[in-house]
Amino acid sequence: MTARIIDGKAISQEVRAEWKLRADALKARGITPGLAVIIVGEDPASKVYVGNKIKACAELGIYSEHLELPADTTEVELLAQIAKLNADPKIHGFLVQLPVPKHIDSNKVLLAISPDKDVDGFHPMNVGELVTGNPKFQPCTPFGVMKLLEKSGVEIEGRHAVVVGRSNIVGKPMALMLLQKNATVTICTSKTVDLAKFTRDADILVVATGKPQMISGDMIKPGAAVIDVGINRLANGKLVGDVDFDSASAVAGWITPVPGGVGPMTITMLVASTVMAAERSMA
Ligand code: GUN
Repeated sequence: MTARIIDGKAISQEVRAEWKLRADALKARGITPGLAVIIVGEDPASKVYVGNKIKACAELGIYSEHLELPADTTEVELLAQIAKLNADPKIHGFLVQLPVPKHIDSNKVLLAISPDKDVDGFHPMNVGELVTGNPKFQPCTPFGVMKLLEKSGVEIEGRHAVVVGRSNIVGKPMALMLLQKNATVTICTSKTVDLAKFTRDADILVVATGKPQMISGDMIKPGAAVIDVGINRLANGKLVGDVDFDSASAVAGWITPVPGGVGPMTITMLVASTVMAAERSMA
């Protein structure tokens, strides 16, 4: 079998066009959706993500602010910036790019963001709303994965979905979203004993471990939908996912490439959540 490629760039363009209509409708009523992104310190990967977020906003005509704070910013200073954005009527949604430097408590930061502007869906209240099946804002990466599955026609209900990775940003919310669509969900980690026993039973396999090419074709059920959330740079400069694309694509039914799979969708769902936040601000 040769897998169908799930083209994240193309699907992302399609979804962005849908959200641009909603952003335009808001503008016609005098509201321009606004997103702010705070970045603390000099993490190069974070800078790339943030640059892409700002570009996507421009494409949809969304107002955006980008606050670059030095690595030695204190927790008190960061909390003060968050308080300002909570009160700023131009800003409907904002996020603090993670990770933050070690001297800042990320839990305190996430708690300080108004749940009504928490477009990342990381505030414990929004996490709770996702757990109870009534989500307001959903973490952008797993939200984007759900869209990729939906747009590719992958059946979820009643299927066995295996998520490898248990982070708060991807693995845990991913499992909850699949469960909400009536999948049977197993959560594994990179430390799961006999991981292949679980992955080989997956109809839908989502991998988010940050371990380059750890899932090979022999660990995949023929015909499965394989979603690779990883993005890793090898010593030779090549960008690869957490899945070994060549062996996996010979077995899977669907597969996301890296780059060009999940990545573009994460940003698309962030701008979608910003438009949603602006819509709710008018209700
Ligand atoms: N760092 C890596 N992914 C994310 C994300 O989705 N949101 C934030 N705030 N930080 C991240």
